[in-house]
Amino acid sequence: MVKPYRIVEQFRDDYLISTDPSKLNLDVVFDYLTNESYWACGRPRDVFDCSIENSLNFGIFFGDNQIGFARIVTDRATFAWICDVFVLPAHRGKGIASWMIESILKHPDLQGLRSFFLATRDAHALYAQFGFKSLEDPSRFMMIRKPTPYR
Ligand SMILES: CC(C)(COP(=O)(O)OP(=O)(O)OC[C@H]1O[C@@H](n2cnc3c(N)ncnc32)[C@H](O)[C@@H]1OP(=O)(O)O)[C@@H](O)C(=O)NCCC(=O)NCCS
Repeated sequence: MVKPYRIVEQFRDDYLISTDPSKLNLDVVFDYLTNESYWACGRPRDVFDCSIENSLNFGIFFGDNQIGFARIVTDRATFAWICDVFVLPAHRGKGIASWMIESILKHPDLQGLRSFFLATRDAHALYAQFGFKSLEDPSRFMMIRKPTPYR
């Protein structure tokens, strides 16, 4: 039995970051990822639901509305993978994603890890401010990636 992640909540102005699973608006997250994102288009609902159930999820809320999200895959001991990061367009450019990455790096279940990894097409500057760098030696890393995973 995997123990639940610790719930963290932080307020800033009218925004809330929360890792409380009961607060997540999964329809908003699913809609953005499958219809708007460049990396998860077409992800089936059952795959999405399974990813949420097995991750540490960060929601960002403006009032009652979810306006941002990030998902962390981790063993809580050595490694974490940050993925599915987005802020809805109306709320971009206000430091919301930066605040969320800061909150992720401070989460009590993610302390003392040796490695945080992520992949990004063009948002390197978002992560670089927290010390993320390109792979020092890509030849040490290997991957399996299906070009059309959901067909
Ligand atoms: C990337 C994204 C999450 C940033 O959200 P945000 O709340 O606007 O980000 P912030 O205001 O905290 O910006 C912090 C820094 O990140 C960088 N940044 C933000 N958005 C960026 C983008 N789309 N491309 C490149 N760099 C970006 C900028 O350097 C910015 O600093 P600046 O405002 O001083 O120039 C948001 O634009 C988004 O949801 N984009 C679409 C989905 C996406 O690309 N997600 C990231 C996948 S790795």
